[in-house]
Amino acid sequence: MRTPLIAGNWKMFKTLDEASSWADDIAKRVSDITRPEILVCPPCLYVHALAESLRGSPVRVGSQNVFWEDSGAFTGEVSAPMLASAGASHVIIGHSERRQYFGETDETVNKRLFAAIRGGLTPIVCVGETLDQREAGKTNTVIEAQIKNGLAGIDPGQAGLLVIAYEPVWAIGTGKTATPETAQGVHAFIRGLLRELFGQEVADRIRILYGGSVKGDNIDALMAKADIDGALVGGASLDAASFERIIRFKGK
Ligand code: 13P
Repeated sequence: MRTPLIAGNWKMFKTLDEASSWADDIAKRVSDITRPEILVCPPCLYVHALAESLRGSPVRVGSQNVFWEDSGAFTGEVSAPMLASAGASHVIIGHSERRQYFGETDETVNKRLFAAIRGGLTPIVCVGETLDQREAGKTNTVIEAQIKNGLAGIDPGQAGLLVIAYEPVWAIGTGKTATPETAQGVHAFIRGLLRELFGQEVADRIRILYGGSVKGDNIDALMAKADIDGALVGGASLDAASFERIIRFKGK
């Protein structure tokens, strides 16, 4: 029922030349694919070039962040209308690295979310617990607060456009993927929260991606789970061949 989405998050990697070579490579590799949806989120400096070179391919381009105002004297920031005009279709909001290093909170996530929706970008809202929070048995409490505060004020019509990414902080860049069972447990919990907030029909439509050390050798087992609708891939998206393997996951 939900079209799977495989999204790459490059974080702060690649020069423009490297980004262009990657785009040429991936466009050839996945030209036959109609399902899943494919997305790459490069540094926003490259959004326009990649959107141009991937035009006509199944790969769409997104940003890793967005500011909450549409324009104004905000030196260094990039707005949703700018990203949309440069060819972006999606934006990642509230990644744990932004929460950890750049003071992102559920309140600023919420402001960015409204800006993304206003600008016609599909928001990918990230949630996830740290290792300390997991070990203290607080995973569900943390996720519930991130979802309820991050999505505050969104109506069910807008919520249908959302993508959620569950990225346990302890699994990001560590090689320690959550087991498919652990991830499925949290995804089902998130879907329950979405049902509470927006009703069954909308909750059933929202894609929930898993992120954290996703690779070619664990994607199939993750995607076999009922509530895992795709992946947000960091390191393994930087190499076109390994990203292709993830895109060509088996099952679902
Ligand atoms: P890795 O796949 O490198 O663990 O990164 C996950 C992530 O943070 C994607 O947003």
